[in-house]
Formats: sequence, structure tokens, C-alpha cells
Amino acid sequence: MENLHDKRKVYQKGELLENCIKENPIEQFRDWFLDAEEHPQISEANAMSVATIEQDDCPRTRMVLLKSYNWEGFVFYTNYESRKGKSIEENKKACLHFFWPALERQIIIKADLERISENMSDGYFSSRPKGSQLGAIVSPQSQEIPNREFLEQELKDLEKEYQHKEIIRPKNWGGYIAKPYEIEFWQGRPNRLHDRILYRLENGLDWIITRLAP
Ligand SMILES: Cc1cc2nc3c(=O)[nH]c(=O)nc-3n(C[C@H](O)[C@H](O)[C@H](O)COP(=O)(O)O)c2cc1C
Repeated sequence: MENLHDKRKVYQKGELLENCIKENPIEQFRDWFLDAEEHPQISEANAMSVATIEQDDCPRTRMVLLKSYNWEGFVFYTNYESRKGKSIEENKKACLHFFWPALERQIIIKADLERISENMSDGYFSSRPKGSQLGAIVSPQSQEIPNREFLEQELKDLEKEYQHKEIIRPKNWGGYIAKPYEIEFWQGRPNRLHDRILYRLENGLDWIITRLAP
């Protein structure tokens, strides 16, 4: 057995104390997200994992890119017929997770997922580079395909077809908004006495703030 017992780090880059946190978790998220974006060692601050529950009741997680956020929630884009899309149709609950090792911070968000409006998905789709637009059309995300050439040939054919034509968003591709009801901010601290601040939405209105043991 490969032994990793001695692989441990001392976390000492920051602290998260009640007297300097925001009352609203989206504002707190914004503070931390801006720190991550500005950090020279973090190349994709908006990469997050999204866990959904599949039909066998087992959670399954994968990375996606956060594309916008506001008071309502966190938006990402994907194929609605993908494996995650199908699991979301059955169970709208999801858990989002950010980990920024360079800041020794993680954020865990429990949320209800909803499709965003067709208009909003159209708007974002039309802002994407042509290659990404065609990629979204070509890829039957999460389905078995015969080989890599299958994708490359499809892409070539579509590039010809759409050479002088506007690319319309396929109906099976669009955004989800994750509307949070719990957000935990974790800051690594020395001696494993990390800071964990939990915001919990009560009555759909008020954010209750508590501290959790590490
Ligand atoms: C850093 C990173 C960012 C990604 N961003 C997205 C994304 O925004 N949307 C997406 O559908 N897949 C994205 N992917 C691919 C997904 O992780 C995943 O492979 C794909 O969505 C299929 O997942 P599913 O079969 O669980 O539905 C990303 C992967 C990585 C590593």
C-alpha cells in the first residue's frame, strides 16, 4: 500500500472571523471570489465541482465553469441531455464546491437547480467563440461515441455548413442557476483548527450565521 501519512500542510494564510465577515453570503462569496481571481497561482478561479444525485441514489461530481452569479444564485452552462442534465431532471438538488489551495479556502454550496430562461441561454451562447458553439452542437455529451474521428468529422461538416450562417443555440444546451440555501466558507488554520462559517437560509429570507467545529 502506498503510504501518504506524512503528506500534510500547515494552513496559515488567513482567518475567517465573525467580526469581519459579510452578513450576506453572496457578498462574502464575492470577496473571496475576487481574491481568487486576482491570485497569481489560481488560473481558473471559476472552476467548481457540481455534485448531483443519480438514479442509483449515489452522488456524482464533475467540474464546470461558473459563468455568472448574483443575489439569486450561481449560473453554469451544459448539455441538458448529459448525464448531469438527466440527474437534475430527477432531482433538482446539487452541491457546488470550490477549492482554492493557494488561498487555503473552500466554499461548499447546497442549492436547488433551475434552468435559466431561454433568452439568457441564447445571450450567453451567442457570446461564445464559434468553435465552442459548434462544439456544443457536435457533442452528444455523456453518450457513447465510436471514436474521436466521429467528433472531428462532425465538426468539419458543421464548419462547412455554418461558414456563412449564424449558429443558433441547440435547445438541449443551456444554463442552470443554483439557488443556494446553505453556504459554508472554510479557511485553513494551524493545528487543524480551521475556521468554518455556515450561512443557512431560514424561511427563504434570512441568512443565519453559525460557526462549525473544524
Ligand atoms: C475545469 C473544467 C471545466 C469544465 N467546464 C464545463 C462546463 O462549464 N460545462 C460542461 O458541461 N462541462 C464542463 N466540463 C466537463 C465536465 O466536467 C464533464 O466532463 C461534462 O460536463 C460531462 O459531465 P456529465 O457526464 O456528468 O454530465 C469541465 C471540465 C473541467 C475539468
